[in-house]
Amino acid sequence: MAEHAEHPAYPVGLRLTGRRVVVLGGGQVAQRRLPALIAAGADIVLVSPDATPSVEAMAEAGEIRWERRPYAEGDLSDAWYALIATPDAEANECASAEAERSRTWCVRSDDASAATAWTPATGRSEGVTVAVLTGRDPRRSAAVRDAIVEGLRDGTLKAPHHRTRTPGVALVGGGPGDPDLITVRGRRLLAEADVVIADRLGPRDLLDELPPHVEVIDAAKIPYGRYMAQEAINNALIEHAKAGKAVVRLKGGDPFVFGRGMEEAQALAEAGIPCTVVPGISSSISVPGAVGIPVTHRGVAHEFTVISGHVAPDDKRSLVDWASLAGLRGTLVVLMGVDKIGAIAQTLIAHGKSPETPVALVQEGTTAAQRRVDATLATVAETVRTEDVRPPAVIVIGEVVTVGPQGARRDA
Ligand SMILES: C[S@@+](CC[C@H](N)C(=O)[O-])C[C@H]1O[C@@H](n2cnc3c(N)ncnc32)[C@H](O)[C@@H]1O
Repeated sequence: MAEHAEHPAYPVGLRLTGRRVVVLGGGQVAQRRLPALIAAGADIVLVSPDATPSVEAMAEAGEIRWERRPYAEGDLSDAWYALIATPDAEANECASAEAERSRTWCVRSDDASAATAWTPATGRSEGVTVAVLTGRDPRRSAAVRDAIVEGLRDGTLKAPHHRTRTPGVALVGGGPGDPDLITVRGRRLLAEADVVIADRLGPRDLLDELPPHVEVIDAAKIPYGRYMAQEAINNALIEHAKAGKAVVRLKGGDPFVFGRGMEEAQALAEAGIPCTVVPGISSSISVPGAVGIPVTHRGVAHEFTVISGHVAPDDKRSLVDWASLAGLRGTLVVLMGVDKIGAIAQTLIAHGKSPETPVALVQEGTTAAQRRVDATLATVAETVRTEDVRPPAVIVIGEVVTVGPQGARRDA
């Protein structure tokens, strides 16, 4: 092999489904390589006296067959491909020689120059497999792979789908506001969009990055005439999709947490428009987290309940059972509740919740304007007034408020 070292490797994609692959050694190398072999559908036999707990779990799950013994001559017969990674140098040599004789492509973890195949640094994004070989520099391979995969995922590497660009609408959860907190899938779809209909909440900064040909529509400004505002948004989504545009409906947080995402998905389904839903990081968890408040904490809260506070507790339209909520020991997270927090706090106290229950209000969480204000159920209404807390804010009610470093300072 050594005399051919200057020749580059010949890249190829092996189709291993149902084909026998033998892995010798059940250590860290096997642990790293097995998932991709399993994903490729290979018929995998592991030969090794022992294995790491993760590899053992793959055998227990039936993803690989494990023969608990050392390598023996003949193990590679009928194998299309072999991974040699035992801690025994002599066994590796013998297995390598057997692979050469039986013309089985083989990777060696201990001596790449003695191998007949090299494993590229691989990554996948939306149906594209990226495989990078740089000869003897695996870190560079990994770095090149990462750059390409990341670029494909976030859309900064322009590689449009020519055969399969899916028409229709993507309802994308944009996360709480920090542009880094959108999912990679959401970001890629945004980069591929022709039209983006965006809410006020969410990662507005990302809209600045869109190329000039992308039409960005502020959902709040769509004229709705004789329709309800939501109907007008639904109609706009349908209209643009019917015109053959790739449409992204960019929403704050997660589309299905007080986001009316399902109403839009239903309207699209009725109009026969394909719709993809991309989850987002909901403000209900991430905004408290951004100021160091965990919505659960061992020994403090074993549940959290996310509540819409957009209608007052005594409003006939309210679907919230405030009496039951007052009886819970866990965390209450109220969205859209700044205006009604006085009535909400009074109702919770009236149903037995302690007036001393800690409360935190987090305004514009994860953005540059983020601000946390602390109170108790008894004082929160007054605090909102004196501190001029404004929407959007997440209100956290419960002992978790005092768990983190800022909460601890508050108690001190
Ligand atoms: C219509 S709801 C949408 C919630 C969103 N779908 C989610 O999962 O986060 C809007 C409310 O979410 C909360 N909210 C969203 N983003 C926020 C942020 N960055 N900071 C504080 N509150 C936020 C506020 O309570 C706001 O009134």
